[in-house]
Amino acid sequence: MQTRFTTVVSFTVSLALSTIPITTAFAASPEPAKAEHGMVVSAQHLASQVGVDVLKNGGNAVDAAVAVGYALAVVYPTAGNVGGGGFMTIRLKDGKTTFLDFRERAPLASTKTMYLDDKSNIVKGLSLDGYLAVGVPGSVAGFELAREKYGTKKREELLGPAIRLARDGFELVQGDINSFKAGNKRLAKDPAAAAIFLKPDGKPYAVGETLVQTDLAATLSGISDKGTDSFYKGATADAIVKASQDKGGILAKQDFEQYKVRELEPVKCNYRGYDIVSSPPPSSGGVIICEILNVLEGYPLSYLGYGSAETVHAMVEAMRYAYVDRNSALGDPDFVDNPVSKLLDKAYAKEIREKISPFKAGVSKELMPKGLGESHETTHYSIIDDEGNAVAVTYTLNGSFGAGVVAPGTGVLLNNEMDDFTSKPGVPNLYGLVQGEANAIAPKKTPLSSMSPTIISKDGKPFMVIGSPGGSRIITITLEAILNVIDHGMNIQEAIDAPRIHHQWLPDKVYMEPYALSADTRKVLSDMGHTVQIDKDWSIWGQAAGILVGGASLSDIERGGGARYNGAIDSRASSGEAKGY
Ligand code: GLY
Repeated sequence: MQTRFTTVVSFTVSLALSTIPITTAFAASPEPAKAEHGMVVSAQHLASQVGVDVLKNGGNAVDAAVAVGYALAVVYPTAGNVGGGGFMTIRLKDGKTTFLDFRERAPLASTKTMYLDDKSNIVKGLSLDGYLAVGVPGSVAGFELAREKYGTKKREELLGPAIRLARDGFELVQGDINSFKAGNKRLAKDPAAAAIFLKPDGKPYAVGETLVQTDLAATLSGISDKGTDSFYKGATADAIVKASQDKGGILAKQDFEQYKVRELEPVKCNYRGYDIVSSPPPSSGGVIICEILNVLEGYPLSYLGYGSAETVHAMVEAMRYAYVDRNSALGDPDFVDNPVSKLLDKAYAKEIREKISPFKAGVSKELMPKGLGESHETTHYSIIDDEGNAVAVTYTLNGSFGAGVVAPGTGVLLNNEMDDFTSKPGVPNLYGLVQGEANAIAPKKTPLSSMSPTIISKDGKPFMVIGSPGGSRIITITLEAILNVIDHGMNIQEAIDAPRIHHQWLPDKVYMEPYALSADTRKVLSDMGHTVQIDKDWSIWGQAAGILVGGASLSDIERGGGARYNGAIDSRASSGEAKGY
């Protein structure tokens, strides 16, 4: 069989493929939000408004990112947090880029085998529910460092909106209720969590009712008054440590006192002339997005077309190879020598391309390295200000509502990020990720993440801000939004809404959202040896939040005259909003 794919793989691939005329295919998507001075895209409409207000009041994108981060901890408790951690990618107006790692660290008393029984089998639920699942939270330290180093506003100004939303309450809309549903059963088991997130009669809240979080308001006020010490050295840390000790956890005061944010050099790569800046280890996100993009640069995806069997085959094979590297080679850079330069090398991408058959699916188990999940609830927000400073933040409690526990008196939901470690090499985690020793548990170590807050520039100017929740799918969700804009000519809203596919090496399956692939495309792929299926466990694949600069799509930008900032929140979930001014 001679395919268009075989013809093109023999081309040298730096063809100016993105100049092939492209038509927009997904006019069913709503128009992106448009604005001239600033744009905030987050998973909850009130948090987006908080960010816009900060920008309007003269704050920069980092100020807005800090205020939105605290606000989401109140209005989007499924993933927004002060009891979890995350990453912030920053591109300043002068082109300088940096990355803040405020992800959770393993407690000092943690051990490599802490989730195994005496027969070395994983004890189900131990890394997911309750205090033993909790990593030392980093969000408060991360937001404070960001504000001090790159922001312009006082702490109380950025915490004020979150405190008011927690103290006075906010009216719940349908999107909030939808996001609460996943947590109700688990939260009912923890008295302190149930007292906040369920009504006094034990029933869930309904649309139009008001959620008040008095304890959280007090915790946030403490941070506003006294800074990070109030959280890490004061009453909040004491309350969390006490609750942990009372309920079988291992958190100690020293864990909180020792917590430090890392400022790291972001991962950088170039895809068809676009400069990508994304998350370095301890995230796998940036490295793996770049590795996949480097492989895909060798195929004319624009010509092969969105959703064609040839495009999907190339994407799947690139994902297969990259996720082997993700799951076997990457870990916390303070503990593991990450082979980042090899994985980002275009020559390595070429080697991978040479192994990919244009006719046949690869076989994942043949790629098993020697010696050898996430909940869907993380959240991403994208911000750009009038001066062109851009910020991408992905932060999380890991599972929906994290470990499902609130330390009494704090209002702080705690994460279950420990599940992102390898509990046992070769055994899948919550996201079905089969990982190795590089990501084994050790005291003070950070579990490997997939979070990929990404900023793209072109010719020295910001072009796109993008990221998503979605566990191990964060990488492919973010990747596909980028491909949809750059290769398939979609506008930012269409690029985010377009149905997705995902492959993560193991299980050896091409997962697709309903309608992502036509029946005949599925047939071609299955004839090539791919197992293609809709994943019934994943009703919502992420909630990407993106901004495109200079127009809503590439053709809009090329024509000139498009809006300066074009924001899009994923249509898959209903509580978010892209808001500009
Ligand atoms: N817990 C989601 C991630 O960090 O990838």
